Amino acid sequence: MYNWDDPINEALNKPEPKISEPKTDNLSEPTIQANNIDAQEGLTGIENIEKGASRIRVDDKAIINCRADLNQLVPFKYEWAWKKYLDGSANHWMPEEIAMHDDIKLWNDPKGLTEDERKIVEVNLGFFSTADSLVANNLVLAVYRHITNPECRQYLLRQAFEEAIHTHAYTYCVQSLGLEETRIFNMYREIPAVATKAEWALPFTQSLGDPNFKTGSKENNQRLLRDLIAFYVVFEGIFFYVGFTQILSMGRRNKLTGVAQQFQYILRDESMHMNFGIDVINQIKLENPELWTDSFKSEMIDLIMTGVKLETQYAYDTMPKPILGINASLYEEFIKFIANRRLTQVGLPEQFPGATNPFEWMSEIMDLKKEKNFFETRVTEYKTGGQLKFD
Ligand SMILES: [Fe+2]
Ligand SMILES: [Fe+2]
Repeated sequence: MYNWDDPINEALNKPEPKISEPKTDNLSEPTIQANNIDAQEGLTGIENIEKGASRIRVDDKAIINCRADLNQLVPFKYEWAWKKYLDGSANHWMPEEIAMHDDIKLWNDPKGLTEDERKIVEVNLGFFSTADSLVANNLVLAVYRHITNPECRQYLLRQAFEEAIHTHAYTYCVQSLGLEETRIFNMYREIPAVATKAEWALPFTQSLGDPNFKTGSKENNQRLLRDLIAFYVVFEGIFFYVGFTQILSMGRRNKLTGVAQQFQYILRDESMHMNFGIDVINQIKLENPELWTDSFKSEMIDLIMTGVKLETQYAYDTMPKPILGINASLYEEFIKFIANRRLTQVGLPEQFPGATNPFEWMSEIMDLKKEKNFFETRVTEYKTGGQLKFD
């Protein structure tokens, strides 16, 4: 039974939920049958209500191609998705809450930062400010419609808002430091290191964004799975990590600590986005094993390897010479280490056996290991700050 009095605490104290095994008896009659919909394809949630239909059972639910009413959140089937929604909401933050005074002073001091350090900050703001909008657009315009489960959609809505907060945070950094906005935001089109990764990702989302695209066939279900792997595993799971490490390295050296803190909050959100995406991918695989063929697996390994190549290139392009005690060749090893993790997380073999993490300090904030106490103070603030007063 769900505890409505203290849902966040209950969710946080629950053991880590396991990915649900597919049910064997989920071929029962769907509760809504909308007109003119192919039998294999899922509902969207905006079909007419079928009055008097039988009540939804857990076994009626599926991540894709589900034909049970999508407007009914309960009964829960995928507790892990609901828990991530609660965790994300419990860690809410806004960019203006982070003090930027020291950063502004340092940036305006001609001797405050080297030219290379300034370049690293600008290029990363250029990359991330548009990358997060692209991720949000992929979620809202391509992925959301085809994920036919209300618990997962609840998290997708939370994630979409977090992506908006991230774009807000980058804009806030650009404005606080007094950078030339149009130059930073146009790096997306003008600086190859910034443009390449977004250019690589676009075809995956365009394929799903086609208004005529529908899941249901094996080929189209694989297209959805391919987009999820491209965005959650490669884009959010590999492409963000050179930039995050570069900015967090500055913070560790007491430079631009406000910008670094914004990135730290974002990294934490992104870790959860990626983990959610990996859970969705693995659940789709469990429920639709026919999609995970040897040729598809090998295509996904190639896709992740292309991600490794592009992120390594980004490291060399943004860091042609060593700064902040780090250099591009360390990133080669780091990206291989990250890629091994991503591959195994979706059930694919490691491609770089023995790769190690040269940035051990990143592992503390990289995934969800410190989820419960990393921002404990802030979570409490939000819980009390969220209580409305009507006097
Ligand atoms: Fe983001
Ligand atoms: Fe994200």
